[in-house]
Amino acid sequence: MITEAAVIPGELIDKLADSRKIVFFTGSGVSAESGIPTFRGDDGLWKKFSAQELANFDSFMRNPDMVWEWYQYRRRIIHDSEPNAGHRAIVDFEKYFDVTVITQNVDDLHHRAGSSHVLELHGNITRNKCTQCGEIFTGEVRLEDRKPPRCACGALIRPDVVWFGENLPEGVYEKAEESCEACDMMFVVGTSGVVYPAALLPSAALSSGAIVVDVNIDEEDHQHNRRFFLKGRSGDVLPALFERVKILKEY
Ligand code: OAD
Repeated sequence: MITEAAVIPGELIDKLADSRKIVFFTGSGVSAESGIPTFRGDDGLWKKFSAQELANFDSFMRNPDMVWEWYQYRRRIIHDSEPNAGHRAIVDFEKYFDVTVITQNVDDLHHRAGSSHVLELHGNITRNKCTQCGEIFTGEVRLEDRKPPRCACGALIRPDVVWFGENLPEGVYEKAEESCEACDMMFVVGTSGVVYPAALLPSAALSSGAIVVDVNIDEEDHQHNRRFFLKGRSGDVLPALFERVKILKEY
């Protein structure tokens, strides 16, 4: 069922009100209204920058200065942004549901909004880690003479995010898959669903009998095997959805 944001089907609200466990699976679209660019839209990061050069370990080792500069640039954008109405609505759902957030985003905005249970599939840009010993560094890094920092063990430090060709953080995908298999309803919010293995998660929920709902501004990114499509910005759709279910829960 395809619908504009303003029209949320009553059937969806009824099924949501009957649900206990829900999953929000998010991509960069959920942070677009916070001013953080997505990856593949017209203004997307991968339209202007090369994923091969900037999100790849070998390239980092060849040119760490360039990769660090790009991550520091993204960090400044993220640091200056705030969670938006979509992130906040996801927190509101915790009032009535057992909510798991599974995000492909590295921007930390679900945590900053106050979500209690967030699984970060692609790491977190606010952290760094040693390329050799794996030590994790939290907190802001200032580059001296624009030189990438080094760990006490002597090796280069890198952003703690997942690059192409790398494994997801240990155990996180497995936990995400378990949440999808156990949930009653899954919202797939603001993602083009083209990066694997993350893109397999909605199928895990579907095959376990959950209702899967796409929330996206672009109908082309709605996968037709899913039950509902709410067309619109997540910052509009998710608060509207919450208000509708709140009425059913409270009266
Ligand atoms: P994409 O740029 O591929 O997709 C963004 C999606 O958000 C598109 O489907 C847009 O239509 C939708 N969108 C944009 N604004 C929206 C809004 N306000 N409300 C709702 N939807 C909106 O980004 P991702 O799917 O997140 O991986 O990309 C997945 C992964 O590819 C990223 O985690 C990153 C990237 O390479 C790594 O870096 C490993």
